[in-house]
Amino acid sequence: MKIVTIVGARPQFIKAAPVSRAIKEHNRRGEKPHIVEVLVHTGQHYDNEMSAVFFRDLRIPEPYVNLGVGSGSHGWQTAQMLMHIERVLTAQTPDLVLVYGDTNSTLAGALASAKLQIPVAHIEAGLRSFNRRMPEEINRLLTDHVSTILFCPTNKAVDNLSAEGVVSGFLNQSSQSPQGRRFVHLVGDVMLDAALYYKEFVKEMDFDLPGHFILSTIHRQENTDKPDQLVSIFGAFMKISQEIPIVIPIHPRTRKKLKEFGITVSTPGLHLMEPVSYLEMCYLLEKCVLVMTDSGGLQKEAFFHGKPCITLRDETEWVELVDHGSNALAGTDENDIYEAFRRMRNRKIKCNLGLYGDGKASERIVELLMNKESFS
Ligand code: UD1
Repeated sequence: MKIVTIVGARPQFIKAAPVSRAIKEHNRRGEKPHIVEVLVHTGQHYDNEMSAVFFRDLRIPEPYVNLGVGSGSHGWQTAQMLMHIERVLTAQTPDLVLVYGDTNSTLAGALASAKLQIPVAHIEAGLRSFNRRMPEEINRLLTDHVSTILFCPTNKAVDNLSAEGVVSGFLNQSSQSPQGRRFVHLVGDVMLDAALYYKEFVKEMDFDLPGHFILSTIHRQENTDKPDQLVSIFGAFMKISQEIPIVIPIHPRTRKKLKEFGITVSTPGLHLMEPVSYLEMCYLLEKCVLVMTDSGGLQKEAFFHGKPCITLRDETEWVELVDHGSNALAGTDENDIYEAFRRMRNRKIKCNLGLYGDGKASERIVELLMNKESFS
């Protein structure tokens, strides 16, 4: 059986790593059918710190091909990927295509495959922010609706799909063809699999860290591309950093925008550093006292490491963390962020990892993929 896996952006390398390992395990045990996985990197992320370092750290094999698409407007970037992925899929003729998450690489991979009538399996299906100004929300919606197999990380994700009419079964009673079916499976979160597996490989950082610090990341387009919003977020950071230092591995987009908008970040309590690798991020998560972020993945990773989190957005796809009390939605207003900091700074987290499965989502996914009944 041949699977083409499409990745391109940082979070996808992390999600694909445990699934690729589960595929290798399946082959090592000699289970049938043997799986050939062909890894395609779109090149959406291309800097060493945004891409290569993840392949090294997570021991992901070199991709079969890097399409080298790079940065550009959403339409341009997605169109370039679509064109190149179609070419690769036509040559490879896989039985199935695997896509992850909600980036432009996800959408391009799903769309190219669906148009070629190759079944698409979407890992991290069903998440919704209900904010269609986010490019990721558009990517999620469209990817889920063209996918044949939808692997959901949470109960809420299954409910979201069901509310949109995406449930297991025939799409149309009158056309019961293989392409007319889809399958929804609750499997748990592959990011929990990654967090548990890589725990013992965590890398100490060669960086002069304060003894007690908050870890923060900002990269969402809706936060970085509006000067007022970025000023407000960094205004809150400057105030908070007078009480607890903040360490910020900075995304290239954010660095660029800070410069473009003339926002200077020169407070002794703010420590900006280059983007870090996955294993270094795990180290920072272990050492920090609190996380402030607009990243989806980091909200959960904070929880996996037993740290409270303030989300610098108005909504989140990971609503169970807000219900659980470990995540506070602060938005981007300077005063609201500061208030959230005061509420959350000493919050003790009762970790209930079960919210995200049992750390075996990847194995479950491979098992389900091996059962041809799941998608044909
Ligand atoms: C993308 C995903 C987002 C994900 C994030 C993780 C979409 C719509 N967004 O956002 O969901 O959370 O990846 O980082 O797909 N850049 C570099 N070097 C790189 C990559 C990017 O300098 O290696 C800069 C470029 O200026 C680029 C900008 O960052 O224009 C944005 O990169 P892009 O891949 O378009 O989106 P992200 O913001 O990273």
